[in-house]
Amino acid sequence: MKYFITTAIDYTNGDPHIGHAYEKILADVIARYHRTFHGPTFFLTGVDQHGQKVQQAAQKNDLQPMEFAQMVTAKFLALWEKLGIQKDGWAETTDPRHKSAVRKVLQSLYEKGELFKAKYSGYYSVRQEQFLTDKERNSVGEFGTEWGEIIFLEEENWYFPLEKHKHWLQDYVGSHPDFVIPAFRRNELVNAIERISGDLCVSRPKERLSWGIEFPFDPDYVTYVWFDALLNYVTFAGYLSGGDSTLPDFEELWPCKAHIIGKDILVPAHGIYWPIMLHAMGFPDDQLPRLLVHGWWNVAGAKMSKSLGNVIDPDLLTDKYGADALRYYLMRDNVVGQDSDFSEERLLVRYNTDLANGLGNLVNRTINMSQRYRDGLLTSTQIHDADLKALQELARSVTQRYRDAFERFEVQNAIEVVWELVTRANSLVEQKAPWKLARQPENASLLDAVLYSLAETGRLLSVMMSPVIPHSSARILEQLQATNLCELAWGGLPSSHHLGTPSPIFPKVA
Ligand code: MSP
Repeated sequence: MKYFITTAIDYTNGDPHIGHAYEKILADVIARYHRTFHGPTFFLTGVDQHGQKVQQAAQKNDLQPMEFAQMVTAKFLALWEKLGIQKDGWAETTDPRHKSAVRKVLQSLYEKGELFKAKYSGYYSVRQEQFLTDKERNSVGEFGTEWGEIIFLEEENWYFPLEKHKHWLQDYVGSHPDFVIPAFRRNELVNAIERISGDLCVSRPKERLSWGIEFPFDPDYVTYVWFDALLNYVTFAGYLSGGDSTLPDFEELWPCKAHIIGKDILVPAHGIYWPIMLHAMGFPDDQLPRLLVHGWWNVAGAKMSKSLGNVIDPDLLTDKYGADALRYYLMRDNVVGQDSDFSEERLLVRYNTDLANGLGNLVNRTINMSQRYRDGLLTSTQIHDADLKALQELARSVTQRYRDAFERFEVQNAIEVVWELVTRANSLVEQKAPWKLARQPENASLLDAVLYSLAETGRLLSVMMSPVIPHSSARILEQLQATNLCELAWGGLPSSHHLGTPSPIFPKVA
């Protein structure tokens, strides 16, 4: 069984921004952690290429929907490459393998009586691609500006019954407290389930929206974007692939350990439609996925938007500071589930304080001193020194707490724990002053023990930080000549070991 995680698939109606980047980095960090410490992992991400938004964006740019979707898809792919996102699967909803499996799901739901056709008339939000009911009216009885242009529409469509599954979902969520993490996001869902009424419209007539997957039993209709998009989590994991060897083995991956999504798409899409869809498709309760819901990155307390001109471009930031700096900042300054404010100044402070002065300086000084005083040869000696023992004890506790935090998806907490060790090791350098010990022949063994302890701490730190700053961690391990020494227990460096040549890992950025 592989550890299977996914992210939301990003709309291809516009360029990637920092919110998209954050989510993919979070997932990549969690996937890398599992790959390193647990074993086989499969990380699926991708792009949501169908729907009205893409069709409209393509029209504006005088392109066919497919051309436009592919152009934007290429930008996402290039950014993920640049940010070191190590994905195992790539979901594009225009992929024929996906389309074929979606059609099979539609056919089977139809045969089970889980899809029916009905006429509906009402107010419709073009931006959100949904009919609006009185529930969507604000306190003064109007549909707010968030719905964009609103038209009155009468239309026959295909519906997926939601209300009849309401009690099942209530029971399921009630008896599976970790269906949604963190817990406070689950409470939002519990309240929303109580309000479920009616059915979900899952089609659009082709004359209004042609850019979608055609219904197998009614070619005048295409699927509505959510139905098509949610199914990516199973279709790209090999569900109903008919043994297609280009896709994974579904049995080996499913159920997904975490769909990593933003708070805006928990209710109703992932918290209501998705489990009900899976239930209707015949998935038993023990085969349902878990949802890890993160908050949003805002700018000075405001939502990013093109009209405000405050959209943060991850591509430019990566060029300026490097992928690891951005990865570190986004993981270090956000509590998963909560919102954060993006600030380039904070990014720079974190980079200079934590990475350059903290971790980088520790490793650099350690290797430099070992080269200067011992020609790079480390010797582990058994001497009794309370400070070194305390450092070793702290390392033991930090590695344990780091793992516990990661198992709970608390990435920020894990990093904070690691920094206890960075800080302690840096103060140990000042306290032990190896440059003084080097002039005292009677302290030769103590100097050996100090240098070994510092190098071993550097090794543990770079192993623990490798999911977050993979490139920098690899460079540290190279300089420590410890590329294959990834054990998370004290003593991984052999008792007699040659260190490599030091070179600054995090050059100061002004
Ligand atoms: N295509 C749908 C998801 C379908 S999943 C079956 C979608 N796409 S999106 O491009 O609008 O958003 C993709 C992800 O980025 C979502 O999880 C969303 O919450 C996240 N974010 C979008 N803006 C964000 C921030 N400002 N901050 C953090 N994440 C944000 O929704």
